[in-house]
Amino acid sequence: MSNVIVETKQVTRVFASGDVEVNALRGVDLRVELGEFVAVAGPSGSGKTTLFNLIGGLDTPTGGEVLIGGAALSGMKRKELSRLRLDKIGFVFQAYNLIPVLTSYENVEYPLILKGIGAAERKRKVEELLSAVGLQEMMHRRPMQMSGGQQQRVAIARSLVCDPVVVLADEPTANVDSETGAALLELMRKLNVEKQTTFLFSTHDPMVMKAARRLIRLKDGAIESDVRQDGEIS
Ligand SMILES: Nc1ncnc2c1ncn2[C@@H]1O[C@H](COP(=O)(O)OP(=O)(O)OP(=O)(O)O)[C@@H](O)[C@H]1O
Ligand SMILES: [Mg+2]
Repeated sequence: MSNVIVETKQVTRVFASGDVEVNALRGVDLRVELGEFVAVAGPSGSGKTTLFNLIGGLDTPTGGEVLIGGAALSGMKRKELSRLRLDKIGFVFQAYNLIPVLTSYENVEYPLILKGIGAAERKRKVEELLSAVGLQEMMHRRPMQMSGGQQQRVAIARSLVCDPVVVLADEPTANVDSETGAALLELMRKLNVEKQTTFLFSTHDPMVMKAARRLIRLKDGAIESDVRQDGEIS
């Protein structure tokens, strides 16, 4: 069996905005194996969020194909796709996407409820993850009552709560100070090593790029370089 968990084949995405067309992705070929720890870097507008949305099945490519665990997303029914997302993929969005009326505890718990996990197991998982991201004291706060970095940590906890095979984290450290950023990276790395969770994260930050074991640079919607490296967390 192949170890490739994420694959894109000549993926393109064209956005039409008014009369102009934006070529957000221009034929991206990518293969990521189980257990990889990959950063996708590139300037603003280079296509990072677009690529993550396509890989996660939140958007459909204009051309080409996305495969998760060898299965083409284009061949899946809506229900199948939601199930795949819930079971296999964890998302950390650039804009957090927390549910405003729910507390951090409830936000992290929500995917477990969708999966039909029992109350005792939910409590155990939610508490474990909130304390892993250092937010056990903020369990009962709503997103509006927390800083950007704290909301980002809740989003990270939520993305991990269903033990995903692959986590897509769009700028997971963009709104935290460098110390918190390093702690979040260490947490991700720990899960990567201990549970073989595959991580793809986008970033502008050189410190975060350095922490990856593989660094892919996007430019104008195309892969400019793709290199393996040590992955030092400082
Ligand atoms: N829904 C949309 N409609 C029209 N254009 C879009 C849409 N989403 C993205 N784009 C355009 O596609 C290009 C890639 O955007 P994308 O959000 O993927 O970049 P990014 O690398 O994530 O940038 P950032 O670092 O600022 O988050 C940009 O030119 C952007 O303006
Ligand atoms: Mg983006």
